Amino acid sequence: MQPPRLLLLLFLPLLLPGMWADPEGLWKIQVLAQVLLLGEASPQTSTKPFPSPSSFPAEPQVLQLLQTSFITNFSSAEMSGVALLGDVPIFALDPANWSIHFHWPWARQATAEGDAEKIKSHSKLFLRNMVRYVHEMAQQVQCNYPLVVQIRAGCVLHPNRTSWGFMDVGEGGRDLIAFEMERQRWEPRQPSPLAELVSKSLTSKKAITAVLEHLLSISCQSYILTLCRYGRADLERQEPPVATVFARMPKPDQLLLVCRVTGFYPRPISVAWLQDGQEVLPGPALNTSAILPNADLTYQLRSILAVAPHDGHSYACRVRHRSLGTRSLLIPWENHSIAPTVGIAIAVLLLVATASAGGVWWWKRRKGEEATWEIQEFII
Ligand SMILES: *[C@@H]1O[C@H](CO)[C@@H](O)[C@H](O)[C@H]1NC(C)=O
Ligand SMILES: *[C@@H]1O[C@H](CO)[C@@H](O)[C@H](O)[C@H]1NC(C)=O
Ligand SMILES: *[C@@H]1O[C@H](CO)[C@@H](O)[C@H](O)[C@H]1NC(C)=O
Ligand SMILES: *[C@@H]1O[C@H](CO)[C@@H](O)[C@H](O)[C@H]1NC(C)=O
Repeated sequence: MQPPRLLLLLFLPLLLPGMWADPEGLWKIQVLAQVLLLGEASPQTSTKPFPSPSSFPAEPQVLQLLQTSFITNFSSAEMSGVALLGDVPIFALDPANWSIHFHWPWARQATAEGDAEKIKSHSKLFLRNMVRYVHEMAQQVQCNYPLVVQIRAGCVLHPNRTSWGFMDVGEGGRDLIAFEMERQRWEPRQPSPLAELVSKSLTSKKAITAVLEHLLSISCQSYILTLCRYGRADLERQEPPVATVFARMPKPDQLLLVCRVTGFYPRPISVAWLQDGQEVLPGPALNTSAILPNADLTYQLRSILAVAPHDGHSYACRVRHRSLGTRSLLIPWENHSIAPTVGIAIAVLLLVATASAGGVWWWKRRKGEEATWEIQEFII
């Protein structure tokens, strides 16, 4: 098996244009290209199945490198970058000194399995060359500074052992150019002189497109498999969802039942409301939020069902997630209970009305009851 040349994947595309410009750089790229392609008959196409170890991931895996350069003028450029496998961060580029920081010990180990150390030592040179290339291109079409260049590169590895590589470049928050693997060329993604110039300039460098294709297919697949092997425990981690049900009453004739689900990983989840045991179908009464990230690499969402107060139906929130296996989490809404907002509103009204010690006592008692009302969670 070809060892992963993962850091090449990040940096080679960035270093190439600049290196091309000077004789010493040209020599270096030839050496790097030789290192990369030696022993390979030819760069292989994206659809060629990878000769695989037995533990092939059962789900599509996406590896992507996201890199942003904020170039204010000829003497100043700020860099940031991160590599992600799915939603798991693998490494990041330190903006202060452009060095690479791994998020996990296994990511460092997996990365060390190829030519990584060799390439890593060149990473700052690569980034400098990229900035130089951007200046060169910007001068030719007389762009205004600052320039914000964003790069997204990587591949998707499917369970059927095929992969698809991609590399997109944006400028000023808009798509600029994209690499087309099949045709081995760069295409403009906007009708501007800069997009025309850069895509022509990069496409004309045949050695670069060949190396790039190799990186985005063979090297990228290989890196994914190595990461999956070293990082299995963290990549396959499962956190069960915690769900709570409560209610709000924005209007006297409307009750909003809220099912809040949080702390789960991985991201796919199914949350549904049951009315008398029947799933409530999507419609104007049902409003489910997007799945949002928590700070600890778990996720949350909420699903809100609008109902009429005291409509005589029973309601429950049902949650299904990989961590629960074939079971479901079922949290019933107790129709006879009173919502906390309503309870507090009544309490406040009473307080204002009587301003008596008895009122305060009632309110405290009321609060106590509400606390016991809150959640009933069980597994079916
Ligand atoms: C370049 O930009 C940086 C950051 O904005 C600034 O501190 C520096 O003075 C600028 N240099 C020149 C030569 O304009
Ligand atoms: C880069 O800076 C970080 C702190 O921002 C520091 O921990 C790290 O050691 C530095 N790396 C190098 C190679 O100087
Ligand atoms: C492999 O799976 C992907 C995604 O499901 C599909 O697009 C592709 O055509 C498949 N390739 C082969 C050779 O089956
Ligand atoms: C769903 O909730 C969001 C946020 O509370 C709100 O902006 C949106 O209008 C709601 N959509 C519907 C169909 O009620």
